[in-house]
Amino acid sequence: MTVDTGESNGHISRHIYGHFAEHLGRGIYDGFWKKDANGDYIIRDDVVAAMKEIGVPNLRWPGGCFADYYFWEHGIGPKEERPTVVNNLWGGVTEDNSVGTHEFLALCEELEAEPIVVGNVGSGTVEDMANWWQYINHPGESPMANLRRENGREEPWDVHYWGVGNESWGCGGHMRPEYYADLYRRFSTFLHGYKNVRPFRIATGPAEADYNWTEVVMERAGDRIDGLDLHVYTIDGSWSTHKGQAVNFDESGWYRLMKRAMWMDELITNHTAIMDAHDPEKRVWLIVGEWGTWHEQEEGSVPGFLYQQNTLRDALTASVTLDIFHQHLDRVKMANIAQTINVLQAMILTDGERMLRTPTYHVFDLYKPHREATALPFELDRGQYEFAGNTLPAISATVSKNDEGRIHVSLTNIDPHQARSVELSFDGMKGMSVKSARILTADEMNARNTFDAPDALVPVEFDGAKVSNGKLVVSLPAKSLVTIAID
Ligand code: AHR
Repeated sequence: MTVDTGESNGHISRHIYGHFAEHLGRGIYDGFWKKDANGDYIIRDDVVAAMKEIGVPNLRWPGGCFADYYFWEHGIGPKEERPTVVNNLWGGVTEDNSVGTHEFLALCEELEAEPIVVGNVGSGTVEDMANWWQYINHPGESPMANLRRENGREEPWDVHYWGVGNESWGCGGHMRPEYYADLYRRFSTFLHGYKNVRPFRIATGPAEADYNWTEVVMERAGDRIDGLDLHVYTIDGSWSTHKGQAVNFDESGWYRLMKRAMWMDELITNHTAIMDAHDPEKRVWLIVGEWGTWHEQEEGSVPGFLYQQNTLRDALTASVTLDIFHQHLDRVKMANIAQTINVLQAMILTDGERMLRTPTYHVFDLYKPHREATALPFELDRGQYEFAGNTLPAISATVSKNDEGRIHVSLTNIDPHQARSVELSFDGMKGMSVKSARILTADEMNARNTFDAPDALVPVEFDGAKVSNGKLVVSLPAKSLVTIAID
């Protein structure tokens, strides 16, 4: 591997490490919030503390599909007066609207996260959305700002990131891109800038390889869009039949999931090319607003709650995906892994008072040094991972330089059997030493953390990185991720 320390491959925005919390399963209730002795929902301090350790640059809410089903007026005012609604999308449970605008934005303040609020285009009106924007953001005298004050919040929250619908091609209304583009133009018109905040308007983007969606929406509404929200899930199997298992998989399941994770590169490349044709200045962000693994939910968990375990396999799909994002920094400025607690590829799982950090959480921890750093270009012989006559590139990497000039290298070896030696030379760097190194690996492909053994799989110090003849030589075990800090 040859790294050019004098060049830049782009700025790694912290917003690529964003999160997502939908009213789905145990993500909100029994996730970020728990009931106190009086039966009132309170924010979980342990969860917030754990999330603050990895840092939450932004948090997307209230969905997902739930966003186009959500009437924000139901979630303000005295809790006992808030109406209930049946969450038909996710498990058919009764949502009592205990967590609404004030509660979510208080959570963001605790997390020091920038909120991304997704408005209801599918079943709401332009007036609803414009009022919500005004309620949250208007600093002066206005009907909605006055209502906010009556509900106990004097100052506006200055929420900048605003989604205009979610998956409008599917659960958000099954629209054609032509129709959505017109609706987008209409809804976004009434998100007025105030002196404290202007809207950063995020349009529903494509599902996976729906290039026609990108083409039509960019062509018809691109001049009014700030971010286009691409959704890509990493599944082993198919949407229509059966998705793979989270824990009980063999090497074919390992291989297929890695292959699927790597598809992200092709998708971003192709959507970027379409966006480039309409927006050559690259003003519009490509936001990967939902990504992560989606398995069959855990047996015995509530149907529709999308609760799944998380193994070393999920972790390495995450590091490979983050590496791909870092190769597309001219467009990819924001992303949200789905979803933070107890849903899909979660950072944290809870069981009553107990909680655990998943292997994916530890990837976010190992990648923390890359945030707000400069990605360095490199050339890498990625080697080949072979399985049943098929091959994938074995090694994936990110190299970045932070403001203090320190270089961090993350290397993932997806090969579950073969260790590899990677020799790195750094052009433009005289002399170096390994400052620290940590590794995430295990003997089993499905190694994971459980409530009885919450730290079974955590990063540990790594002694396999040595400087020799002016090069960094890394002995990378099979199925591992390492992050090395170099001075
Ligand atoms: O993350 C779960 C669901 O996946 C979201 O609600 C939706 O946007 C997507 O289809």
